[in-house]
Amino acid sequence: MRKTVIILLVATLALLTSCTESDKVYKIGVAQCSKGPWREKVNKEMLAAQHLYEHDVKVSIANSVDDPALQARQIDSLARTGIDLMVVAPYEDIQIINDAIARVLKAGIPVISFDRKTSADYTAFIGGNNVEAGLIVGQYIASIVRGERSEVRNQKALVMEITGLLSSTPALERHRGFEEAMKALPEVEYICQKSDWSSDSACYYATQLIDSLRQSDPRRLDYTFIFCHNDGMATGVYKAVVEQGVEGRIKILGIDGMPYEGLEYVKLGHQVGTYYYPTHGEKIIRLALDILTGKPFDRENPLLGFVVTPDNVDLVTTEAIELMSQNDHMVTIHDKLEAYFGLYNTQHKVLIGSFVAIVLLVVAFAMMWRAYVQTRRTIRQRQTLNEEETLFYTNPDSRTLRQVFETPKEEMPAPRSQDAIFAETLNEAIRKNMSNPNLKMDDLGDEMGLSRVQLYRKVKTITGLTPVELLRKIRLQQGYVLLTTTNKTVAEIAFEVGFNTPGYFSKCFKEQYGRLPMDLRL
Ligand code: FRU
Repeated sequence: MRKTVIILLVATLALLTSCTESDKVYKIGVAQCSKGPWREKVNKEMLAAQHLYEHDVKVSIANSVDDPALQARQIDSLARTGIDLMVVAPYEDIQIINDAIARVLKAGIPVISFDRKTSADYTAFIGGNNVEAGLIVGQYIASIVRGERSEVRNQKALVMEITGLLSSTPALERHRGFEEAMKALPEVEYICQKSDWSSDSACYYATQLIDSLRQSDPRRLDYTFIFCHNDGMATGVYKAVVEQGVEGRIKILGIDGMPYEGLEYVKLGHQVGTYYYPTHGEKIIRLALDILTGKPFDRENPLLGFVVTPDNVDLVTTEAIELMSQNDHMVTIHDKLEAYFGLYNTQHKVLIGSFVAIVLLVVAFAMMWRAYVQTRRTIRQRQTLNEEETLFYTNPDSRTLRQVFETPKEEMPAPRSQDAIFAETLNEAIRKNMSNPNLKMDDLGDEMGLSRVQLYRKVKTITGLTPVELLRKIRLQQGYVLLTTTNKTVAEIAFEVGFNTPGYFSKCFKEQYGRLPMDLRL
């Protein structure tokens, strides 16, 4: 019974808590390297895509804010949280980060390298095409330079490139693409200033350039372009330009094209252009799910960007803002869904609890019912015995006496010594009075100096039989002896051992010995 209850409970719980394959929520860890509008946008897009596809994902983002050692530690700790896949935007191609990524892969966790690459291995890459970004910004500058008649200008245009951190792949690739475009521009003097991603450094280098042009050839300031590897740096250059009082003369370009940053600066005329560097957080999650669910996927996944100029900036800004607000709505919906799922999970638990309680109640009720039925049966048996006992006192030969002796005399349980005397005396008393069909227990009790109740209990304890049963057994045994040792008729023997009728004697005899008395005579 207990085993059945346990099986029932376990099965119930398993049923209620079981997850189907599509319920699986994949955990994705994101190791971001920097802050800023571009990073924030992509982070939001990944968060908004958590409930977008056939499987839900849980995205956890760590940001190392331009600290490679911290990023290496964050990669390790994200991996320890039991994630299914890691997205890394490595700050730079540096040993500590590469080693951390290698450890993640070794632990069997797939790694998506996002936006930046390192020389460490990876499962797949997704990000903008930075060589192309540098190239088409360079070509855009070329189109402006060629548009201005150089004979009017009468001197070469000056183009300064201020790079991002060259140990990070976007800076290196943007530089490659841009350099290629500049090589095809003989009417341009091109200089490249290595830097990091900071706007302060860009401001510093721009100030230096303005200073030197002012001293050497101030007219050239009108034919100078400064291309920065991102719009954040371009703001540093703009600051320098304003500070040096040459606003509107030097043409500034950047990369990223974020609303409220690069796009806004192009609109305001602070920059002549920017490159819309794609984010597509939802595509990162799609790729992650393809990897996790064993679907085919491309190892390299370049994202397309384009140049934003004063001509298209309004349209691009409207679209970009629209997309961003839709994404914000998705994040809101996501948060609401999370709250709903939280409520749903609580209700689910309450439901399981109630179900288990009901099952336990049913089981408890079944056990009580069983106990009740057993008690009733015992009481009924007890009543039957009492009835037989009563009958014994009134009519020892009553036909309601159903019990028959199974064991022959010699197999009766051996009485304990003081009981042996009692058994012998009782046996004697019964045998002496056996022929009296109206023999009563009181008579026997009187003869043995015991009350009716004492006699009943003692007989029951010693023989396991009621006095009625014992009397009948002894009568039948005596009948058996007489049938096999004398020539008396069955009727004579029946009367002699105390039966009222030979027919009833024969019936009881058959029940006891499996044969009719007559059969012993054949
Ligand atoms: C942000 C950022 C962007 C840039 C990208 C390159 O951290 O500097 O401005 O386009 O990273 O990886």
